[in-house]
Amino acid sequence: MPDKTMEKLVSLAKRRGFVFQSSEIYGGLGSVWDYGPLGVELKKNIKERWWRSMVHEREDIEGLDAAILMHPKVWEASGHVAGFTDPLVDCKHCKNRFRADDPKIKGTPGQPDAQCPTCGMKGTLTAPRMFNLMFKTFMGPVEEDAAVIFMRPETAQGIYVNYLNVLQSSRQKVPFGIAQIGKAFRNEITPGNFVFRTREFEQMEMQFFVKPGSDGEWFEFWRAERLKWVQDLGIRQEKLRWHQHGKGELAHYAKDAYDIEYEFPFGWNEFEGIHNRGDFDLSRHQEYSGKKLDYLDTTTNTRFVPNVVETSAGADRTTLVVLCDAYREEAVKNEDGADKEELRVVLKLKPELAPIKAAVFPLVNKDGMPDVARRVYDDLRKRFNVFYDDGGSIGRRYRRQDEAGTPFGITIDGQTSQDQTVTVRDRDTLKQIRVASAKLVDYLKEQLTG
Ligand code: GAP
Repeated sequence: MPDKTMEKLVSLAKRRGFVFQSSEIYGGLGSVWDYGPLGVELKKNIKERWWRSMVHEREDIEGLDAAILMHPKVWEASGHVAGFTDPLVDCKHCKNRFRADDPKIKGTPGQPDAQCPTCGMKGTLTAPRMFNLMFKTFMGPVEEDAAVIFMRPETAQGIYVNYLNVLQSSRQKVPFGIAQIGKAFRNEITPGNFVFRTREFEQMEMQFFVKPGSDGEWFEFWRAERLKWVQDLGIRQEKLRWHQHGKGELAHYAKDAYDIEYEFPFGWNEFEGIHNRGDFDLSRHQEYSGKKLDYLDTTTNTRFVPNVVETSAGADRTTLVVLCDAYREEAVKNEDGADKEELRVVLKLKPELAPIKAAVFPLVNKDGMPDVARRVYDDLRKRFNVFYDDGGSIGRRYRRQDEAGTPFGITIDGQTSQDQTVTVRDRDTLKQIRVASAKLVDYLKEQLTG
């Protein structure tokens, strides 16, 4: 049986307002996605958690928000102009383009036996040519070669070119780090799998500057820290593993690299990389800019170009990991009182990550219940992202919130007017308890921290 989980997840993401295809009314733009009301909250919660753990909770890391557009020389120095390429072949007949190692190609591209996987013609595929993955645009009014600039393919370079600015303004000392969250762009030729590989995406990157010789130790430190952070998102342990890059896999800048992989419905794949970049980046920027980027260690009175240990996570891929891991289909008892079981789809998101923290329901739209429910809702929404729903049976309302991953359902019922308590239903256990409505804020605060 083919695994339909991704199809179901994409459909749920659209139905519930997590993710929509970009420019859908025009037929969509390939591998570009928009985050809807729930998706933007989920991704924001992940990014804020990352920022808190990297920047606020650590004395030795500073934040940065560098511009997407950078001086074109940055990309020569970084090696992206020469090295950020994929070998591609074109079909001269149907004009489609493929990666040279596309398993659907039969025969050897450039030879008469090669067959185009799209139109089926033989001998029409060109020999492989290197194709740069950076998007180009023009800066200023004239579209000429001198005005070409690139959309950044990684956020890291914005950190390297600001390394001295941050060092001097923050009075940090090596070892220290700079963290940044921002958009990156890659003209991927084989994008796909929903938000896994897209042409516009967000990265959460941190570059840690260390003394040469201590890079191996810091590399191990950051590997352990990052795995802990990922586990803390609530991801199932058995779905996570390390993959070390072999010699042929290492990026042009890397001395050593490990990926944290997740077992997606379409197989094991990377969503975060920890890279030992040595002194490649700062040395190259020093060479290309002519500006000294070495560091004076005042305790030993020696100068060196710091080595860099990088942690590089995709905000979109991490969001996809969280969604895939949370997605469950379960048989549960009917919650409208009928004596039967039914199938529910539920996102078992860690409560801190959930877009909506609680939904407030009047059991019925009479007997003063909507007024009380509105008051509870108004009170809660000053502190949490909460949702009000008075449409349909209570069981159906619970199911809608299960699909949104909302951890708590708060129902105002007949007993509320007698003892000022409400029912709080737990998304995962379906258990219901009664909580005094005056204590709801404290109750939710307690449940939502961790
Ligand atoms: N600065 C190092 C760097 O960019 P990378 O392995 O190319 O390293 C890091 O990318 C992370 O960025 C990946 O693990 C992934 O989560 C995310 N990423 C890279 N390309 C992506 C794409 N086309 N779509 C979505 N996320 C992507």
